[in-house]
Amino acid sequence: MNHLNSSKEIILIAAACENNVLGKDNQLIWHISEDLKRFKRLTEGHSIIMGRKTFESMPRALPKRKNIILTRNENYEAENAFVAHTIEKALVLTGDDPSPFIIGGGEIYSLFLPFADSIELTRVHKNFEGDAFFPEIKNTEWRLVATEKHHSDNDQTFTYSYLTYKKINKI
Ligand SMILES: NC(=O)c1ccc[n+]([C@@H]2O[C@H](COP(=O)([O-])OP(=O)(O)OC[C@H]3O[C@@H](n4cnc5c(N)ncnc54)[C@H](OP(=O)(O)O)[C@@H]3O)[C@@H](O)[C@H]2O)c1
Repeated sequence: MNHLNSSKEIILIAAACENNVLGKDNQLIWHISEDLKRFKRLTEGHSIIMGRKTFESMPRALPKRKNIILTRNENYEAENAFVAHTIEKALVLTGDDPSPFIIGGGEIYSLFLPFADSIELTRVHKNFEGDAFFPEIKNTEWRLVATEKHHSDNDQTFTYSYLTYKKINKI
């Protein structure tokens, strides 16, 4: 529940390293194929809300999902995607999806964090330099309810964990 739309569970899904970096120069930094598969598994069949910059960092709209792009540009158009100019309009576009996903990037995670119910965070246990950041997850507001640690599935030299957080007043 949240005050924007009480019937939906709004889920932020992100991969961030220890210093909260998400990306650099409008690109992702690391490649974890298992994490991408998990992202696909969790989000397929749902609405996904993203910032205009994240949309433009991808080759095309993600298939099997309703792509919703947030921009302040009233003339913005994109193939196979819906466009919204406010949080409220973006959520209206999710229709009857009970659990839409917010897929980034930094600006859009910060915008939705106060209204989110859950966070599916892949925490990459390393520091990278970047220019887009996941917002602080305050332990007074969020409770960690599940942790799953993994070793990277290729030659990269880091581990990562799937962390599930629930907003404390929603538990
Ligand atoms: N690691 C991950 O999980 C992950 C996930 C997604 C993205 N990323 C990375 O994050 C980076 C992009 O993040 P970012 O923070 O630079 O950009 P972003 O959040 O993807 O998009 C920012 C854009 O969203 C629009 N916007 C922001 N606030 C708005 C509001 N209140 N109302 C309407 N529109 C609004 C604006 O578009 P206009 O300028 O068109 O008005 C703004 O420029 C990239 O490096 C990407 O690879 C990482």
